[in-house]
Amino acid sequence: MMKKVLALLMTFVLIFSLAACGGNAGTSKEESGSKTIETPSVSGKSLVVYFSRTGEQDKVGVIEKGNTKIVAEMIAEKVGADTFEIVPKNDNYPMTFDALCDVAKEEQNNNARPEIKDSVKDFDTYDTIYLGYPIWWADLPMICYTFLESYDFNGKTIVPFCTHEGSADANTQKKIQSAVPNATVKEVFAVRGQDAQNNQDEVKKQIEDWLK
Ligand SMILES: Cc1cc2nc3c(=O)[nH]c(=O)nc-3n(C[C@H](O)[C@H](O)[C@H](O)COP(=O)(O)O)c2cc1C
Repeated sequence: MMKKVLALLMTFVLIFSLAACGGNAGTSKEESGSKTIETPSVSGKSLVVYFSRTGEQDKVGVIEKGNTKIVAEMIAEKVGADTFEIVPKNDNYPMTFDALCDVAKEEQNNNARPEIKDSVKDFDTYDTIYLGYPIWWADLPMICYTFLESYDFNGKTIVPFCTHEGSADANTQKKIQSAVPNATVKEVFAVRGQDAQNNQDEVKKQIEDWLK
């Protein structure tokens, strides 16, 4: 009897955590294909900054290159920008999806600011920062807030892009703007993680349309 109750409880926790990890899946305009993101008019020197994970990810299984990293590299190539990967100083993130969801949730609950390994050289020389991140629990991963709080964004333009599996941009433009009130924050360009992984020609076309 006790075993059954335990099994039921675990099933419930699993279903709940998967559903929650999916955020407000299915509700975004983008999903129906009707949302168009304005082309970000930018000037000056650009840097593409991104956070991205390998290992087991939602919908794509175990991946060797992170979904956001794939998009980041496409954007960097297209706009001719330098890149900077946000790498945790102590990288203890699990390589299995469920365990990663738990750690990410805990970081969010604690309003954590995980440390970043390196810093951007000559940050002052960049005018436009393309900032890429996976949606984690309908928000940016907390380490991206560490990044935003580590530099002076006064007068800079941030062009956010994210990968997700249903939540689209999850209103992260507002969250970024609150974290860096002195920056100009453009609309978020959102891409399905599974498309970044498995439908790259289509994603390249979306990026070209967005940037042209
Ligand atoms: C901890 C965690 C939380 C997630 N939360 C959401 C979410 O709330 N909404 C959503 O659409 N996708 C969510 N996802 C899916 C990721 O946003 C998606 O798989 C993304 O493409 C992963 O990018 P990466 O490979 O660059 O890390 C979550 C994934 C993880 C690992």
